[in-house]
Amino acid sequence: CGIIGFTGYTEAKKVLIDGLTTLEYRGYDSAGIAFYQQGTINTIKTTGKVSNLAEKVKALDTLELQAESSCGIGHTRWATHGGVTDTNAHPHTAGKVTLIHNGIIENYRELELLLKKEGRNPISQTDTEIAALLLDSLYEGDAIKAIKQTVELIEGAYAFCILFADQPEVIYSLRNSSPLVACHTKEGSIIASDMVALIDYSKDYFVVPEMHIVTLMKDKVKLTDLDGNLVCPRMLHVTWDMTAAKKGGYPHFMLKEIHEQPESLRNTILPRVQNKLPDFTADNIPDSLFHGISRIIITACGTAMHAGLIGKMMLEKLLRIPVSVEVASEFRYQDPIIDKGTLVITISQSGETADTLAALKLSKERGAATLSIVNVKGSSIARESDYVLYTHAGPEIAVASTKAYTAQLSCLYLLAFRFAYATGKMEKDACIDELQQLLHAVSVLEEVLSQDKIIEEISIQVKDKEDLFFIGRGLDYALSCEGSIKLKEISYIHSEAYAAGELKHGTLSLVTEGVPVVALATQQKVYSKMISNIREVKARNAFVILVTVEDQEAEASIYDYHIVLPKIKDEYAPFPAAVVLQLLAYYTSLHRGLNVDQPRNLAKSVTVE
Ligand code: G6P
Repeated sequence: CGIIGFTGYTEAKKVLIDGLTTLEYRGYDSAGIAFYQQGTINTIKTTGKVSNLAEKVKALDTLELQAESSCGIGHTRWATHGGVTDTNAHPHTAGKVTLIHNGIIENYRELELLLKKEGRNPISQTDTEIAALLLDSLYEGDAIKAIKQTVELIEGAYAFCILFADQPEVIYSLRNSSPLVACHTKEGSIIASDMVALIDYSKDYFVVPEMHIVTLMKDKVKLTDLDGNLVCPRMLHVTWDMTAAKKGGYPHFMLKEIHEQPESLRNTILPRVQNKLPDFTADNIPDSLFHGISRIIITACGTAMHAGLIGKMMLEKLLRIPVSVEVASEFRYQDPIIDKGTLVITISQSGETADTLAALKLSKERGAATLSIVNVKGSSIARESDYVLYTHAGPEIAVASTKAYTAQLSCLYLLAFRFAYATGKMEKDACIDELQQLLHAVSVLEEVLSQDKIIEEISIQVKDKEDLFFIGRGLDYALSCEGSIKLKEISYIHSEAYAAGELKHGTLSLVTEGVPVVALATQQKVYSKMISNIREVKARNAFVILVTVEDQEAEASIYDYHIVLPKIKDEYAPFPAAVVLQLLAYYTSLHRGLNVDQPRNLAKSVTVE
């Protein structure tokens, strides 16, 4: 989500709308602003794009709200809790408090119960309104004290901007995990979730330290700790222009999106954790859906289909029921065997891919229960499905899908856990442990992002090759398929993914001196088999890029480059390993001088058959 706050000497509504327009790429399902005008706080919010909000504000401006406003807060939403409605849009007001929020309040349900007992009832379905109600219940005129008491009670990741009805022209902000940056200029003080919204006003800014409070006034910005002690902000300076700023300082959206994966994964997983267990209550997916399912079909296209290949293995392992993965463009023209005991899972970032949508419709006609894993709220596939599990990856701009892929994987894992737990195939403690492993995988993925230098070096070695092979077994094979498509779509180098054991049945004839082979060997179970396959290609003088997990032994004679992932269980290795393959594709395309974000002939969303 995008956040902006301004107090100063020019029209605040304009600063807010301009800021939200710039931040729209962070989320665009609804938007809203709140501002002081003639002594009171007015709130305007709406579903849809920031332009809808701007229209609404303009209409009101011509009516009663013509007076100038010099202080306000604004938000553009990418829904995590609660549907996309005007009521659920930010800002939220409770008594004297009006606030906007970016992040997830994990314990909002417990807090909601406590607040309800005091007669404080929310009107929206958001975790944000619970924070507003809680803060209002604790506010007695001392904002810093009430904010401190509030954050002592809430758990999760958050960034807040808060207005108090009795403190006109002042904005309070604080953050924990979710980003916030602030600056002061001669026009006033401004705070935002992202540097892009500040750049028009100042290139000097500071990152709000975690668990610190920023008080924005017209003539100054004050930074304090939670006890109100003054802290000196560490000022930073940017040299980016606006285009670079939109990419958060990254040269390409793809690289930015690769680096956003820890955040997008946590945003996808954490709202579904209740009492340490996966929980789909807020997604309206009842456990009764899982009872009576004897078979699962996953259908999707491209990268989403590759996520399905990994999901299949996890689902089959935990559920012991058959799972098949079908390319949607094939599935829809076959005569699929579907009955009431079949659950069809469609996966789509855009929610608009024509073949996936058609496969979903066919499944429904034939009586399957349908569940979709989709990134874009309210998209056609989401609307058409019986149940939807949204990935909260945020907008994905680069054609090559990265953060949507890992978010899809996380949804499939959560689904496997809940399904197994709800149907008695997995004990509670085991389920808690799996969820912990999933969260651990996110931290490991985060560590692997810093291995980009060696991956860039490898890309320079392979960039002028004509063919490249990816090999692996089990989950590594499923991941190889994704590694191969990633590379070919943006570097235009021919590549193929092979089940390592299958090489000797044909493909080995193509492996000659210097041909790059990316060998994924993260699976302990088949490690020695995999090493034998690597020896087979090395014996043909292939250029081997080996990926293993810490503590696995590998003699230097079998590889040219070796990437070692931090220790992780077999089932979770695809998360960090995916980053290696994404970065390899990215740097190869970059060093070939190609258009990384918009490869030739390809589109982000394929709405034709
Ligand atoms: C296009 C995109 C791919 C994507 C596929 C499926 O080919 O370039 O990145 O994986 O469509 O798209 P979907 O939106 O259904 O996930």
